[in-house]
Amino acid sequence: MSDIKPVYLNENPTHHDAIEAINAEAFGPGRFARAAERVREQGPHDTALCFVALVEGQVIGSVRLTPVMAGQVAGHMLGPLAVRPSYKNLGIGKQLVRISVEAALQAGSEGVILVGDPPYYAPLGFEPVKARLDFPGPVDRSRVLVAPKGEEIHQRLAGQITWRAYGIREKA
Ligand SMILES: CC(C)(COP(=O)(O)OP(=O)(O)OC[C@H]1O[C@@H](n2cnc3c(N)ncnc32)[C@H](O)[C@@H]1OP(=O)(O)O)[C@@H](O)C(=O)NCCC(=O)NCCS
Repeated sequence: MSDIKPVYLNENPTHHDAIEAINAEAFGPGRFARAAERVREQGPHDTALCFVALVEGQVIGSVRLTPVMAGQVAGHMLGPLAVRPSYKNLGIGKQLVRISVEAALQAGSEGVILVGDPPYYAPLGFEPVKARLDFPGPVDRSRVLVAPKGEEIHQRLAGQITWRAYGIREKA
């Protein structure tokens, strides 16, 4: 059992440089070429739903959520998710996912979408997207997953995924 006890906090601007460094380390320069990045570059992430893990005051993990319209679903896209290599396999990545998904659904998001490895995300409530959801670039459809607010969300996930202006909480 590890005695490392991370503290989980909402992301704030003082974390930005550390998050950039963690993502660069985790994904390398190719991260900017990914289809999910094409969505993220359309507008800002929702900092209220982004979280960091800190150990001894240092950011060692990060997850970001970006508001998206996925077909007819007003949801969020999760990513990047990254944990520093020396802190892997301690449950930190999964805890970051749990916290951010719960915060999003609580805030009125209809579903959290991501492109990722099904074996990692399935135990966290993610299911394959059944409808045809088009990204602004090529994606492996078997890796497009959703943690839906309810089962009926699947029917409305057909179409494009694009950044959307903040609104769910304002509308609610
Ligand atoms: C993927 C990542 C975020 C996992 O973070 P982590 O804190 O080590 O994850 P956790 O400790 O919560 O979970 C570890 C478990 O998930 C498993 N796991 C890790 N990556 C996995 C993957 N891609 N597919 C399936 N299982 C995976 C581990 O083997 C481990 O299994 P165990 O609990 O049975 O030992 C981290 O390895 C990372 O930053 N990787 C580089 C960036 C990346 O790939 N991000 C995800 C993009 S979809």
